[in-house]
Amino acid sequence: MQTLQSVPGMNDVLPADAARWRAMEDAFRATCERYGFGEVRTPLCEFTELFTRSVGETTDVVEKEMYTFEDRGGRSLTLRPEGTASAVRAYLNSVAGTEPLARWYYMGAMFRGERPAKGRYREFHQVGAEAYGDGGPAVDAEIIDLGYAFIRAIGIEHTDVRINSLGSGDTRLRYRQALVDYFTPLKEKLSADSQRRLLTNPLRIIDSKSEQDIALRPGAPRLTDYLGDEDRNHFDAVQSMLAKLGTPFVVDPTIVRGLDYYTRTIFEFKETSGMLGAQDTLGAGGRYDNLIEELGGRPTPAVGWALGCERLLLAASGHTVAAHPPSAMVIAIAKSDELAVQGEALAIAKALRDAGIVTHIDTRFGKADRQFRHGEKHGARAGIVIGSAEIAAGTVNLKDLFAKTQRTIPRASLVDEVRALLSAPTPGGP
Ligand code: HAM
Repeated sequence: MQTLQSVPGMNDVLPADAARWRAMEDAFRATCERYGFGEVRTPLCEFTELFTRSVGETTDVVEKEMYTFEDRGGRSLTLRPEGTASAVRAYLNSVAGTEPLARWYYMGAMFRGERPAKGRYREFHQVGAEAYGDGGPAVDAEIIDLGYAFIRAIGIEHTDVRINSLGSGDTRLRYRQALVDYFTPLKEKLSADSQRRLLTNPLRIIDSKSEQDIALRPGAPRLTDYLGDEDRNHFDAVQSMLAKLGTPFVVDPTIVRGLDYYTRTIFEFKETSGMLGAQDTLGAGGRYDNLIEELGGRPTPAVGWALGCERLLLAASGHTVAAHPPSAMVIAIAKSDELAVQGEALAIAKALRDAGIVTHIDTRFGKADRQFRHGEKHGARAGIVIGSAEIAAGTVNLKDLFAKTQRTIPRASLVDEVRALLSAPTPGGP
């Protein structure tokens, strides 16, 4: 029978990689908590309407990429393609009335039916941060700095922060008209998608991935030329505060973002060494001052971002963690009294584990060599070897597998001795 495969674009994380995922998640939590954000966890699945109303009917995500299905009651549900809409819904359902100034972070799986490639998957993971209730430029700078601080904390060095402003009020409308005026005479040269969007959502032409559209972009009107005074002041203030924080950034007028809910400041975190190829946007975000009201809340400004975990881990490869924690292994050398020795070996492993020490044991037992190899695979340093003679004498043999030395110690001092060995400097190490 053929072995079943996972759904294309949906991947397993095996134990060897999970340590890197956990280290990244821990760094994310720690960084967010330092900036005064609290964690929110929302369902993987929402009513479809939440995404069509927030992300936007004419976006790629809603038009082509959502995993939508009917539940048994005939309601249309969608696996979340992003976290902002769900977080806003949760905010509206909970603290919006009592705690308008909320700061939340989240992490978890998102689903988009895109063509799988390196850095682009159908189930992927995001870490994200959202700040509600503050419309000023300081929180924009602060939250961009939070994203940058986290990216640096996990060891990614080659990052650009690119920022732009979509303005507010009628800025988008005026810019939209300018785009229609510019692209209409060129309509035949646009991709089929963009020809359709010329009427429904011309902004999307500016961030289209089609080569045909990209070729027409250089002469197109620039968003920043359409900002009103207040929007320009806001954008200038964000820049001067970022400079004050020492967060490096560049203004990039070609950023428009692929989701419809944005207003004013928008930004992207790019990996710049080239190692991610075409999928070099680590994450992105911006202000969405109208979304909460559009979803039925009181007018409440908001700003946030999300970073793609798979891309972060690709970009951090070689930097973050993955070192084995200091650990021990227990080896049973057994002949006739096998079960008694194996039982004692298990009891020793349990005693070490109860004391908080990572302990490996090859429960198939068998040849000592094979048991040692099992521990080596996990980078174990302390080897505890027992046989019936040691059990009778109330001792164990403790090996330093790095220094290749061995001592016989009383069973009673096992935990203290192993702990001391695992915290001793590595022979030949730094
Ligand atoms: P987004 O630009 O759609 O924004 O996604 C943010 C990041 O998620 C991307 O830059 C990328 O790293 C990752 N990502 C997106 N799609 C995929 C995929 N198919 N495979 C792998 N990684 C992917 C948002 O989702 C907004 N909710 C961000 C936001 C938060 N804006 C305001 N608050």
